[in-house]
Amino acid sequence: MTALLSPPVLGLGTWKSNPGEVGAAVGTALELGYRHIDCASIYGNEAEIGQALTTAFRDGLVSRDQLWITSKLWNDCHAPEHVRPALLRSLQDLQLEQLDLYLIHWPVAHRHGVLMAEHPSDQIPLEQLPLSRTWAAMEALVEEGLVRQIGVSNCSAAKVVELLKNCRLRPAMNQVERHPWLQQKALLHRCQEEGIGITAYSPLGSPAGDGKAPLLEDPAIGAIAAAHEATPAQVLLAWGIATGTAVIPKSVRRDRLASNLAAAELKLSREDLQRIAELDRHQRFVDGSFWERPGGPYQRAELWDEPGEAKG
Ligand SMILES: NC(=O)c1ccc[n+]([C@@H]2O[C@H](COP(=O)([O-])OP(=O)(O)OC[C@H]3O[C@@H](n4cnc5c(N)ncnc54)[C@H](OP(=O)(O)O)[C@@H]3O)[C@@H](O)[C@H]2O)c1
Repeated sequence: MTALLSPPVLGLGTWKSNPGEVGAAVGTALELGYRHIDCASIYGNEAEIGQALTTAFRDGLVSRDQLWITSKLWNDCHAPEHVRPALLRSLQDLQLEQLDLYLIHWPVAHRHGVLMAEHPSDQIPLEQLPLSRTWAAMEALVEEGLVRQIGVSNCSAAKVVELLKNCRLRPAMNQVERHPWLQQKALLHRCQEEGIGITAYSPLGSPAGDGKAPLLEDPAIGAIAAAHEATPAQVLLAWGIATGTAVIPKSVRRDRLASNLAAAELKLSREDLQRIAELDRHQRFVDGSFWERPGGPYQRAELWDEPGEAKG
C-alpha cells in the first residue's frame, strides 16, 4: 500500500478529548472507519492517542499507510532550534516514525516553555520571530523524512501570501475555523488559488459541555436536516465537504462518532447549499481573544488581519 496523498475529508478532532477517554474514542473511530486523526501537542493527549494507534496496528484493525495523522507545533516552539525537538516529542508520544502533516498551530509566538502566556512579555511579536523562520525549520523536517507535508493553522490570506514569498516548500494546508456561520469565502478562494487545502476546525461550532450548541440549533440547518432525515451535525459536516474542505469533528461518544462519519454520504442539494450560503455571519467561536494581553503584540485585528474585528 502507498500512503494517502491528502487527508480523508472526514477526520476525528481530539481537542478537549480528555485523558482516559481519548484513547477509547480513537480506537472506536478507527473501528468505525475513520482514517484521519487531528492531534496537537497542546491538547495534552498525544501519548494516549499513540497507545490507541499502536493497539490498532497490533490488532490488524488498520495499517499505518491507511491513516492520515496530523499534529501541530505549539506557540512556544517557533524558534527554529525548538521545531525539531517539538516534532520528535509528538512522534514519540504518538508512537510514530513520521507524521502525514505538521502544522504551525497559531501565528502567535511565546517564549520557550510558556504554554499559555500570562504577560505580554511572554509573547514574542512576529516581527521578532517571523513565521518564515519557523517555516524554514518545518521545511527541514520534510527533507529529513520526519513529516510528509507541512502547513499552517489560523492563518489569514495575508499571512499565507507573506509565507509564500519566501518558502521553498509551499504549505499544503491551512487549518481554520469554518462552518456555515463563518464561511471564510475569501480565504477559501485564495487558498484554493494557491493550491493550499483547507481543513475546517470546529465544524459543529465547538459546542461546550454545558449543553449550549447554537450552530447545531440553527433553524435553517434543522429544516435541511429534517428534509434529509439527517441530524443537524450531519448537515454541517456534509456542507463542509461539499464546499471543498476536510472537516474534523470531535466526539468521544460512539453514537456521534458513527453518525458524524456517515455525514460523508449525505448529499446536499443545490437549494440546500444556497440556503446555507445565506447563513454566513462571520461569527468565530474560537476568536483569538485569549491571545490578547494589554499592550501585547497579539490583538484580534492583527491576528486575523481584519481591521473591523471587534476589540474588547
Ligand atoms: N487548529 C486549531 O487552532 C484548532 C482549534 C479548534 C479545534 N481544532 C481541531 O478541530 C477539532 C474539532 O473542533 P472542536 O473540537 O472545537 O469542535 P466541534 O468538532 O465543532 O464540536 C465538538 C463538540 O461537539 C460535540 N459533538 C460531537 N458530535 C456531535 C453531534 N453529532 N451532535 C451534537 N454534539 C456533538 C462534542 O461532544 P462529545 O465529545 O461529547 O460528543 C464536542 O463537545 C478539534 O477537536 C481539534 O482537533 C483545531
